Amino acid sequence: MAILEVKDLKVHFPIAGGILGRTVGYVKAVDGVTFSINEGETIGLVGESGSGKSTIGKSILGLTHITSGQILYNGQDITRQVRKNRSPYRKSVQMIFQDVYSSLNPRKRVLDIIAEPLRNFEKFTKAEERKRVDELLSIVGLSPDNASKYPFEFSGGQRQRIGVARAIALKPKLIVCDEPVSALDLSVQAQVLNHLKDIQKELGIAYLFISHDLGVVRHMCENLVIMHNARFVEAGTREDIYNNATHIYTQRLIAAIPDIDPRKRIAHAEYRKGINENYEANRDKFYRDGYQVYDLKPISPTHSVAIP
Ligand SMILES: Nc1ncnc2c1ncn2[C@@H]1O[C@H](COP(=O)(O)OP(=O)(O)OP(=O)(O)O)[C@@H](O)[C@H]1O
Ligand SMILES: [Mg+2]
Repeated sequence: MAILEVKDLKVHFPIAGGILGRTVGYVKAVDGVTFSINEGETIGLVGESGSGKSTIGKSILGLTHITSGQILYNGQDITRQVRKNRSPYRKSVQMIFQDVYSSLNPRKRVLDIIAEPLRNFEKFTKAEERKRVDELLSIVGLSPDNASKYPFEFSGGQRQRIGVARAIALKPKLIVCDEPVSALDLSVQAQVLNHLKDIQKELGIAYLFISHDLGVVRHMCENLVIMHNARFVEAGTREDIYNNATHIYTQRLIAAIPDIDPRKRIAHAEYRKGINENYEANRDKFYRDGYQVYDLKPISPTHSVAIP
């Protein structure tokens, strides 16, 4: 069953201009996207920088205004409630932030950082709270001794785990993971990703997994949506996207993934050249007025593409 449904979501930011600061136009960060997430599932949200990925995540968390559209949680329209603090919805839906450095308060100890959501939503005694924080630290592979330290005393990978511990503290049903590992070394990336997978299996959490790294997404997500210019250009299963990319933008994105097999490198470079030539020649057929992404149309029960 779908736990979260997003319907025709639009988020437009006003642009102030002139000396009077009047609104002279809008940045259409998200311009009409529809998708749903099932219980325990991981959906990958992929697209280039500025395409609107974080804005989708933030609107689900109530961290930005919504221009129009609907958000449903367990079938109920909660669009007007997502910004209300301490609602049951805000307990069930958490976020791991793109910029972990600035999302952890440098003046707070790890204990207080992880306990913050618990203090907002649970009525724990000090001892119960400490027990839960120790438990959370061990879930993400950190020793309980770390509770009294400050964020600067940790490596990037450890800090990311603290962010994960905080996000799972309230046993949420959904976590928006916004580029959770892109600031990390490859070896540490794998550790954090595997942790996320383990926790998901154990707690049955669904993830909206935002990334521009198609390798990471392939490892994590059974379903994907590809975003460009504030809209979805393609949606499908991992199979649909990686083996049967149909939108010209997705094709180019997939072709850009380097082939790790050195024997295939020359063939892959040729293939990529062909895809790029096709992109230059046929791009206009996939965008209205050279920019606007068409509505998604189903081409199979699992696969849809934005075509005229
Ligand atoms: N608060 C804001 N006010 C004005 N414009 C904004 C605001 N937040 C985002 N935008 C604009 O909306 C667009 C989408 O931004 P967003 O952060 O969602 O992109 P993104 O896909 O997450 O990119 P990245 O991969 O770089 O994180 C960008 O053009 C950005 O400048
Ligand atoms: Mg972002």
